[in-house]
Amino acid sequence: MITDSSTDSGSSSPRQSPSESLSEVGTPATERSTLFSHSFSNLVYHQQQYIAVVGGLGYIGSHTCFELLKAGENIIIIDNLSNAFRSVYNRLQVLLTRYYEGRMEEAPVMRFYEADYRDETTMRQILSDYSKPTRLFATTDDDSVMTSAIKGVIHFAAYKSVSESIKDPLKYYANNVAGMIEFCSILKSYNIKTFIFSSSATVYGSLANSGVPLKEEYCTHQTETFVDHDGTVRTVDGGCTGLTNPYGRTKWMCEAILSDLAFADPEWTIIALRYFNPVGCDESGLLGEDPRGVPTNLMPVVLNVLAGSIPVLNIFGTDYPTPDGTAVRDFIHVTDLARGHIAALAAAFNDRIPKGFRTYNLGSGTGNSVLDVVGAVEGVASATIPVQIVDRRDGDVGICVAMPRRAESELDWRTEKSLETSCRDIYNFLEKSKDVPVAIG
Ligand code: UD1
Repeated sequence: MITDSSTDSGSSSPRQSPSESLSEVGTPATERSTLFSHSFSNLVYHQQQYIAVVGGLGYIGSHTCFELLKAGENIIIIDNLSNAFRSVYNRLQVLLTRYYEGRMEEAPVMRFYEADYRDETTMRQILSDYSKPTRLFATTDDDSVMTSAIKGVIHFAAYKSVSESIKDPLKYYANNVAGMIEFCSILKSYNIKTFIFSSSATVYGSLANSGVPLKEEYCTHQTETFVDHDGTVRTVDGGCTGLTNPYGRTKWMCEAILSDLAFADPEWTIIALRYFNPVGCDESGLLGEDPRGVPTNLMPVVLNVLAGSIPVLNIFGTDYPTPDGTAVRDFIHVTDLARGHIAALAAAFNDRIPKGFRTYNLGSGTGNSVLDVVGAVEGVASATIPVQIVDRRDGDVGICVAMPRRAESELDWRTEKSLETSCRDIYNFLEKSKDVPVAIG
């Protein structure tokens, strides 16, 4: 289905009060749907500038959309709902209305297109609505280039299950890698060349096992020389070390391709954000992690055990070289992570970072163990989480913690929220979801 659901603040659409809107969460009829063939054309182009968020209704995407809206950015969300729900869009509408109610400034525009980013025809239809040909010289007719009202793209539309990627690697390479290549070709033809890519700490592969905080220079796509944590000057060749699964390889391959693209065409500004372990949710309790399918990441599993839908938490290994023997990760509140995208866009638009390709770790720099997470959730929920110790999970590393200095100094970004805050916010989300069950799905 191809739909465009618009929330044009300041337009003729009546504003809903938050309470009215909440009761309508998950009700598609509250949205205005239009076929592309009737859509906005140059009207859109002339009015505003936009950020396109592809895969914008998923866990990290939806939080990033809300932070963009709070920052006053107009956004268009493109999502095929393969791992997200339409009700998330309704919730964003509620949050947008609430946030701007009583403020002096006008709320930005948010639009949703239910579409697969690999569907070239549809993507061109959408992008054409936000673009116009601009003549370079007044004298000839065939010298025009496209100018787009979309000033930047954030790309979240990737599959992310490690276990599924092992069972069905072609699905992962087709969507995550081939899809991104095609998508960049389309963007290029519209002259949209500011691109934020969702990467992952997984690109460090077995380097994480070194036990020291991971620097971006440990995994590069060109030869680089840098000063390491112990003061040693090191030169690294582009490449990867010890990637254990196809999902991880797709992230590394996409980074490598984007690095080559930016090298070949210096007009691109491409930022790959290497996420560590996102947890938590927006403090409103209206956005959360709600994947389709069985959860495998630690926090969703812990929450399912808490809710009783999974009987016990399997702890994968207690023999790692860590203080309590369980694996250590750099858990980052998803709102902090979302704000990292805003910081990256701001740095790109303000020319604070050079054009080309650049990677940034988005992590806190602090490690917490699996047992720390269990303890933090138990503390917030005042409940005991049943656990059992089982063997290590294949492909896991013992320690994976970011060195976040590059993002701090170049993007002026750092984490602000703790693991406890993450647990409190997610508990709030679960409690709210009980009140409005229709919203989850
Ligand atoms: C996983 C992915 C990684 C991806 C990241 C996104 C794997 C091997 N890696 O990282 O590629 O970028 O998610 O969030 O899946 N744990 C348990 N019991 C559970 C679930 C997890 O003990 O039921 C442990 C794991 O063994 C691990 C830690 O919790 O040590 C974190 O696991 P998880 O949340 O799956 O994240 P990562 O493995 O770090």
